Amino acid sequence: MRQQTGETKGNARAEMIFATGNAHKLKEFREIVGGDIVVCGLSDMGCDADIPEDAETLEGNALAKARWVAARYGAPCFADDTGLEVDALDGRPGVHSARYGCAEGHDAQANRQRLLSELQGVEPAARTARFRTVIAYIDARGAEHLFEGTVEGHILDSERGGDGFGYDPLFVPAGWTQTFAEAGADRKNAVSHRGRAVRAFVDFLRNEKQKNNNNTR
Ligand code: IMP
Repeated sequence: MRQQTGETKGNARAEMIFATGNAHKLKEFREIVGGDIVVCGLSDMGCDADIPEDAETLEGNALAKARWVAARYGAPCFADDTGLEVDALDGRPGVHSARYGCAEGHDAQANRQRLLSELQGVEPAARTARFRTVIAYIDARGAEHLFEGTVEGHILDSERGGDGFGYDPLFVPAGWTQTFAEAGADRKNAVSHRGRAVRAFVDFLRNEKQKNNNNTR
């Protein structure tokens, strides 16, 4: 039965596990949800496993990571996956965004270099793109739920800005003149793919909590 919640190394009780070893993502999630939903990350569980991400879709990868954690810990959990979809490249790099410029992955500079070279000669109006984040949540009964957030924009022909990460210095959201790497975290989170997906997920969790509270009154 999947009724337990995650018990962290420090014995603090968490309502669910975020299937990530990325401390930045965990912090961002906690900032968005505040204290309403108590979440622990994989390192809180003493887990440093590299969970396989070899599906061909964002949904597939997010579900695979969440299922891996649900099977191992028997607790409610969620995972996310993000991709940059560039129209002139038929949606690439998409699900392969992390490893686009270098097979080992996590080399943001190499990823941006490859993107710029693939888009060389493509005129500004044709450089449209979107970030898409999918969150997969497995609840206490083992039911699976998907949430999505996207932000439309376009890709510049050179980098601008020192904040942010990944493709941020090349991505200008629709209606903006700045890149994500020129905006502060708050402005980015307000419109970003991840911010939107997290808010959709958190709205769902708050509704579920409210329903449970009403049922136990
Ligand atoms: P992940 O699924 O969140 O690990 O994202 C996969 C890859 O997409 C990362 O390695 C980054 O290159 C890129 N990426 C994800 N989110 C963002 C973002 O908010 N800005 C820029 N690049 C991002």
